[in-house]
Amino acid sequence: MSYYIINGGHRLEGAVSVGGAKNAALAIIPAAILCGEPCVIENLPYIDDVRVMTELLSQIGAKTEFSSNGVLCIDPSGINNVCVTFDMVNSLRASYYLLGALLGRYGHAEVSFPGGCPIGQRPIDQHIKGFKALGAEVEIENGIVKAKADKLVGSEIYLDIASVGATINIMLAAARADGITIINNAAKEPYIVDVANFLNMMGASVKGAGTDIIRINGRKQLHGCNYAIIPDQMEAGTFMIAAAATGGDVIINNVIPAHLDAISAKLMETGATVREGNDGRDFYVRVSSSRRLRSVNIKTLPYPGFPTDLQQPMMALLSTAEGTSLVMETMFEERFNHVNGLNRMGANISVSSRTALVQGVKRLMGAQLQVTDLRAGAALVIAAMMADGKSKVENIHYIDRGYEHFEHKLCGLGADIVRLG
Ligand code: UD1
Repeated sequence: MSYYIINGGHRLEGAVSVGGAKNAALAIIPAAILCGEPCVIENLPYIDDVRVMTELLSQIGAKTEFSSNGVLCIDPSGINNVCVTFDMVNSLRASYYLLGALLGRYGHAEVSFPGGCPIGQRPIDQHIKGFKALGAEVEIENGIVKAKADKLVGSEIYLDIASVGATINIMLAAARADGITIINNAAKEPYIVDVANFLNMMGASVKGAGTDIIRINGRKQLHGCNYAIIPDQMEAGTFMIAAAATGGDVIINNVIPAHLDAISAKLMETGATVREGNDGRDFYVRVSSSRRLRSVNIKTLPYPGFPTDLQQPMMALLSTAEGTSLVMETMFEERFNHVNGLNRMGANISVSSRTALVQGVKRLMGAQLQVTDLRAGAALVIAAMMADGKSKVENIHYIDRGYEHFEHKLCGLGADIVRLG
């Protein structure tokens, strides 16, 4: 099993470029099933989750071909199987998008109950409610979600929770349904807009993505297209936090600054400097800090609030901030698995239910650390870079699922990280 050895104490300096958005990629790859023609998807991140999703498509008969620079060609015309019951699904939460895509295209899908990072219960009742509203029969048997419909018919759906996954899954199935579907209380995350743009490029009619009401006018046919995925908001946010946490000065290129407003605002509250700019080609954010940061309170919220995915990296930063921070996690009940590791390094964090009380300490010390999920991995790597001395960070396969070339990008900024094992 691979692990990192990280020598802390180096401030990050220089420039880094952000890859394509993981959560958009994991929806857009299966969405390509919805047409019968090849699609070319550009700006895909080099991460394990993308490789697994692509492999799942190949296993059901699609032709998939990666070329250089994160470009994937998917030809779904050979799909001959609507059952995705492989062991692989267990490691991929986003496999649930195969349900919406296969159901939309073939009126039938059987997909193993999705796995993913252990950060809470993560039910899919809202996805199922949406499919049922479109006329599908849905059953769960032996851990397999089976959805079937003679004909999908557009419908009005009110989501009880503004779920990213349910919103996208319903959009996928509704894109090929007969008539109009309206999703009320839809999630508004940037990935949703990206998936809607992709569907529209295939000839679908999806309006209102990015607001809480999305209207989909189903189409009998969709066609192939070329599409480039947006930059990853969470990867950008992770580098922003790492820059501030190490007292560094980093330019993060290829970002959409508006997607980063919540994190920029919080970093500025801590005393870090955040500037946005445009070098004539791309937008960038530049984050720097030269003194001890201040404590801040955080409450995770759906977009455009502070993202749950950055709560964990941000807590690493706050562990040495001056004063006491309150961090409230409202999205996923078990997203505090990184706290043990931070406390092993000398942090003073106590958790009660969904709130963590972070009493800033002067410094962290290197330790042996176990990654428990993707963003906990980012948090522990940031903490190890902040710490005095050497850390060993184990279980980094979680990091490989969602950060492309993570240690290479950080080493390019001056970090001292070696992958071993
Ligand atoms: C997606 C992202 C994840 C991000 C999260 C919130 C992907 C692959 N993952 O996860 O990185 O942290 O959005 O921005 O895109 N819920 C239900 N019933 C449902 C669906 C969700 O109760 O049917 C609950 C969840 O348990 C959670 C909340 O709704 O408490 C939000 O979940 P959701 O937005 O669906 O997150 P994911 O799509 O799983």
